[in-house]
Amino acid sequence: MYTKKVMEHFKNPHNLGNIKNPDGIGKVGNLVCGDVMHIYIKVGENKKKEKIIKDIKFETFGCVAALATSSVVTDLAKGKTLNKALELKKDDIVKSLGGLPQIKIHCSFLAIDALSEAIYDYLTKNKKSIPKKLEKNHEIIKKELEVIEERYKDLLKKK
Ligand code: FES
Repeated sequence: MYTKKVMEHFKNPHNLGNIKNPDGIGKVGNLVCGDVMHIYIKVGENKKKEKIIKDIKFETFGCVAALATSSVVTDLAKGKTLNKALELKKDDIVKSLGGLPQIKIHCSFLAIDALSEAIYDYLTKNKKSIPKKLEKNHEIIKKELEVIEERYKDLLKKK
């Protein structure tokens, strides 16, 4: 069902964990399955003085594919300029994993959304201009996360 690559990332995820004092955090959740993903970024500059993703880590509470897609998205985004990182698509993730079962394609959206939210967070905190598409995406993601938090609030309180 899963490719060898997916299982490799699942068993030995890259960039797992969080970053102390990150420059941006992306928190996303999926309304249907309830999986949650957090991505942390540190922003630096390349030789051309462009902003790049210097470091990136993730924490995922979810399925095998959610873990593998988080792991691979951090590999793909690391070292890229923010603009290039924002151009990453779910197809890039699915391709890097050698494919995903159709029913698990939505997990790759979650990884892309977590990355774009981390960049959104960085741009907002640093009062930089936000591309329209990113702003629109952020509003949708924010609403989904609110629904999930509301759904699990009793569970979270008990902890
Ligand atoms: S089943 Fe929901 S992210 Fe994988």
